[in-house]
Amino acid sequence: MAQNDIRCPEGAFQDWTIPQDWQSYTAAEHAMWDRLFDRQARMLPGRVAPEFLQGLDVLRMSKPGIPDFEELSDRLMKATGWQVVAVPGLVPDDIFFDHLANRRFVAGRFIRTPEQLDYLQEPDVFHDVFGHVPLLANPVFADYMQAYGEGGRRAAGLGAIERLSRLYWYTVEFGLIQTDEGMRIYGAGIASSHGESVFALDDPSPNRIGFDLQRLMRTRYRIDDYQQNYFVIESFEQLLAQTLETDFGPIYANMAGQPDLEVDAILPSDRLFTRGSQAYARSKAT
Ligand SMILES: [Fe+2]
Repeated sequence: MAQNDIRCPEGAFQDWTIPQDWQSYTAAEHAMWDRLFDRQARMLPGRVAPEFLQGLDVLRMSKPGIPDFEELSDRLMKATGWQVVAVPGLVPDDIFFDHLANRRFVAGRFIRTPEQLDYLQEPDVFHDVFGHVPLLANPVFADYMQAYGEGGRRAAGLGAIERLSRLYWYTVEFGLIQTDEGMRIYGAGIASSHGESVFALDDPSPNRIGFDLQRLMRTRYRIDDYQQNYFVIESFEQLLAQTLETDFGPIYANMAGQPDLEVDAILPSDRLFTRGSQAYARSKAT
């Protein structure tokens, strides 16, 4: 993900990348990857989109230990022409969009500590690599991510980054997909989270709403807890088509006079899969 008002850290290249320095990971850091990997690998079959599991397989992402980005990039390059590059933390929007538009996924190199097992503020290598990289081996999703990067560069010129960032949030990070076998997870924020990979699919609390680009881009999101809204796509082809074929300029202009929507809003025009009780959010608010 991206963030502004930060400076290129010392030791990083102009494009904010740094060497992964795989050799310097400790045994404890590799063990943390294995612990997280085991937990999610047990959780995800039957919950995550089949393309995600295929990606894990094609990229031979497994134990033991944190993947070496060079080896991972070799396999990813053969599958879809993408690479994984290390960055020290959150990067500015323009740098982030530029990497995506050039089929480079930026990933944190650090891994969480045992005290941060279930919550950390900045994305670590487990979130970035386990959560995001498997779907980059899928040709349609890989094209969507590049198209998003190109859309980001256009949005920057139109003053629409905030609205576009919601598309990333509600698809790449927290997206759900309807399949013939039922609803599945594909967002990295869910797939890399032990708690949210159950909550997002099974809990009666959140709304689950059919994907609608403009509706989604008006919807605020929360960064401090599980989502109150999830958007459900029909296919990755649908996602790619909307992003590639849409001229965002008129959409942003059309939306300019429309207010943002709250995280738990439901509109009469929404195609609802679940009308959430919002019981979880209420319990946390009191
Ligand atoms: Fe992420």
